[in-house]
Amino acid sequence: MAKIRKAFVCTECGAAAPRWQGQCPGCEAWNTLQETASETRPDRRRGSWSGEAPRLLAEVEQDVEARTPTGIGEMDRVLGGGLVPGSVTLLGGDPGIGKSTLLLQVAAALGARLSALYVTGEESLRQVGLRARRLGIKAEGLGLLSETSVEAMLAQAERQRPGLMVVDSIQTVYSEHLDTAPGAVGQLRECAARLVRFAKQGGTAVFLVGHVTKEGAIAGPRVLEHMVDTVLYFESDAGSRFRVIRAVKNRFGAANEIGVFAMQEDGLREVRNPSAIFLSGHPEAVPGSVVMVAWEGSRPLLLEMQALVDEAHGSAPRRVAVGTDQSRLALLLAVLHRHAGVAMFDQDVFVNVVGGVRVAETAADLPVLLAALASLRDRAISRHTVAFGEVGLAGEIRPVPFGEERLREAAKHGFERAVVPAANQPRTPIEGLEVVGVKRLSEALDAVF
Ligand code: TYD
Ligand code: MG
Repeated sequence: MAKIRKAFVCTECGAAAPRWQGQCPGCEAWNTLQETASETRPDRRRGSWSGEAPRLLAEVEQDVEARTPTGIGEMDRVLGGGLVPGSVTLLGGDPGIGKSTLLLQVAAALGARLSALYVTGEESLRQVGLRARRLGIKAEGLGLLSETSVEAMLAQAERQRPGLMVVDSIQTVYSEHLDTAPGAVGQLRECAARLVRFAKQGGTAVFLVGHVTKEGAIAGPRVLEHMVDTVLYFESDAGSRFRVIRAVKNRFGAANEIGVFAMQEDGLREVRNPSAIFLSGHPEAVPGSVVMVAWEGSRPLLLEMQALVDEAHGSAPRRVAVGTDQSRLALLLAVLHRHAGVAMFDQDVFVNVVGGVRVAETAADLPVLLAALASLRDRAISRHTVAFGEVGLAGEIRPVPFGEERLREAAKHGFERAVVPAANQPRTPIEGLEVVGVKRLSEALDAVF
């Protein structure tokens, strides 16, 4: 058995100290030492290394196990095709967004194919039972455990060797070897490391639930991102019933893939064809809004970009972007000023992607500027028009990947006109869709306004 020894490690430079002190012995920063546990193996005396011998790649490849599909299509999509034995997945999201619901459904859906152990540190077994009843889950074979000590839950898991283990949530778990409270960075890291080791050794797929709090990112699950194989985050509007789960990291699949669900009375229901669900559905055009075709993971998604431009009252005008990159907004407004002669330095600019979805790609550049200009001029852009395209610093409109697929998706949903980068124009015309290819920002503005 490995011996656990406490250590204090600087969060800035990683230097270690045997006991807590105010100043880091390495980088001399103040109050950066955090308690962690380090293991010393008794068998590491000279000459007695008992490490494993290297194996041939060909041998290892034979071991690569098939994935187990969860049976929930949208979940399999974000996981990259199903559950990988021995993988560790972090599922993050705001409290109340549906993390426990989803994982209970996943554990039940895996049903007979994999044994599952659901460890809850937040709720009583009764509460989990009530939720299972509400979800209409049978899964009598699902193991439930109310436990917050990582040592105790691992002892149980060693005995049961489940195919799937859910730890809800990692913030409630503590190691008996550390004196700090559950949720402290040292505890999070140590407990996650123990669970990761368990997953790798026994081939159990482990899910760690982590709450993300808007202000307290420091003790949030972000510190665990590099330790796990897959990181999934819920992103959604508080008011919306739709839930988007994005793979921000995936060692076994494509990053940025999304899965879409709808929260219903009886749990999360997958939305197989989410293409147009995030459109606000205004029958009439409103000023400051334009529809774009985003490319999320491996499929197109029609999204509505909204902007509000209003006279600024403070000394510094505000630039607020929700769902898109805030610093890019300032950059785009500078391009708009320089290359189209539209100044907004005396205006507050707010941009929002409807539905709480995040758009990280530069294809949102042109829609952001079109929405902002529409709001400034109080002009409505037709509900039958879509736009996408990257805007360069020289005012040029650059192509984006999957141009033709995006256009076909727009045509499928009845859009009649698309203002897009000239290089994204399709080789063969798309029925019912007039495609206006533009090379410069000024051309795009002329085409729309
Ligand atoms: P929950 O999974 O407990 O969230 P988390 O674990 O992320 O904190 O979900 C809680 C919310 O979901 C709660 O507000 C009620 C709602 N909900 C439904 O609408 N339908 C359902 O079937 C369930 C179980 C929950
Ligand atoms: Mg929960």
